[in-house]
Amino acid sequence: MSALLLYCRPGFEKECMAEISELAGTKEAFGWANIEMNSGFVIFECETAHTLYSHCDALVFARDVWPISDRLTDLDPSDRLSPIIESVKQLMAEKGIKLLGDVSTEHAEGDDYRATAKFAGKFVHPVRQALRKLNLLSKKEDSSKPSLRLFFKDSTQVIVGSDKPRLRAKWPMGIARLRSPAAAPSRSTLKLEEAFGHFLGDDWREQLSHCRTGVDLGASPGGWTWQLVNQGLYTYAIDNGPMDKKLMASGLVEHVAADGFTWKPPLMVDWLVCDMIEKPGRVAQLMYEWLHTRQAKYAIFNLKLPMKKRFQEWQDIKTQLDIAKVGQHPKAIMKAKHLYHDREEITVFLDLGNQNG
Ligand SMILES: C[S@@+](CC[C@H](N)C(=O)[O-])C[C@H]1O[C@@H](n2cnc3c(N)ncnc32)[C@H](O)[C@@H]1O
Repeated sequence: MSALLLYCRPGFEKECMAEISELAGTKEAFGWANIEMNSGFVIFECETAHTLYSHCDALVFARDVWPISDRLTDLDPSDRLSPIIESVKQLMAEKGIKLLGDVSTEHAEGDDYRATAKFAGKFVHPVRQALRKLNLLSKKEDSSKPSLRLFFKDSTQVIVGSDKPRLRAKWPMGIARLRSPAAAPSRSTLKLEEAFGHFLGDDWREQLSHCRTGVDLGASPGGWTWQLVNQGLYTYAIDNGPMDKKLMASGLVEHVAADGFTWKPPLMVDWLVCDMIEKPGRVAQLMYEWLHTRQAKYAIFNLKLPMKKRFQEWQDIKTQLDIAKVGQHPKAIMKAKHLYHDREEITVFLDLGNQNG
């Protein structure tokens, strides 16, 4: 039986499963999964997994996805490599892959998998060596070619598959290991940094360097504002709470103690960002209005999802935004992701295509 392996934040397996089941339903592909709570992965059994895979790039709750080709159990500790190499040869023949660009040995995230994580980390070296000897792996890492993905449930069981470069997560397994900038006022600065990288791509700093102004709703103490200021944007920081003093000394921040739902900018700004802890439907509506009425060109915002119906809440909000977009801004771009630095929230990027003021 073919299947997809999906990674998600531990604790979000149900949402991840609900979303892939829903996507499968729209493609007339049906499947099922037995989920292990807090494991951080879902195996979705589905006859047409390989076709479904090509539609997975828009999934919100999955951090990374790849199709499973083989599952090996009872690996012999004295020779784990031989059956894996045989399986890889078969996979490459079936998929017509001439050369792999890289190998990734993976594991689940939960506490129960610490020993496996250590094992998987070391095991990548012998796999690489063996594949290079057989001329199945490029001499240097080549991200433009398929990567071999090996998911170890433990040191005796491995799931084998390969990905497609276009569908691969920006960071390995979708885990964005970013270094917290020492000067940033809060760690939540990393959420916005990850969001820019994820939604805009590697050259996001270059893209922002062409922008001049921003608004941060719910800005205190200033982690998100810091990201905008760091790219040279003059930023209105809206929050009744205090802003970091060093950040204010940059001269690029105007702190306004006001309600983010009513304050408006004097002129259209380039970027609107919002991290207010408020009802998600209300925040989404506000963001749409700002862009629709040409008060900002682009928005990145967080939606704090209610514990018991996170997937449903996002579906409802998405449906509403889609209806508005289709009617009023047919060229709009909306992308959403449960980012690595997000907890009970997801992050959304919105561009209604109103750049011309
Ligand atoms: C998660 S914190 C923001 C952290 C900030 N992004 C950072 O990186 O430092 C949420 C902030 O939203 C603010 N907030 C909540 N509701 C608001 C409203 N209606 N108007 C303005 N700020 C609001 C709170 O005062 C709080 O400081």
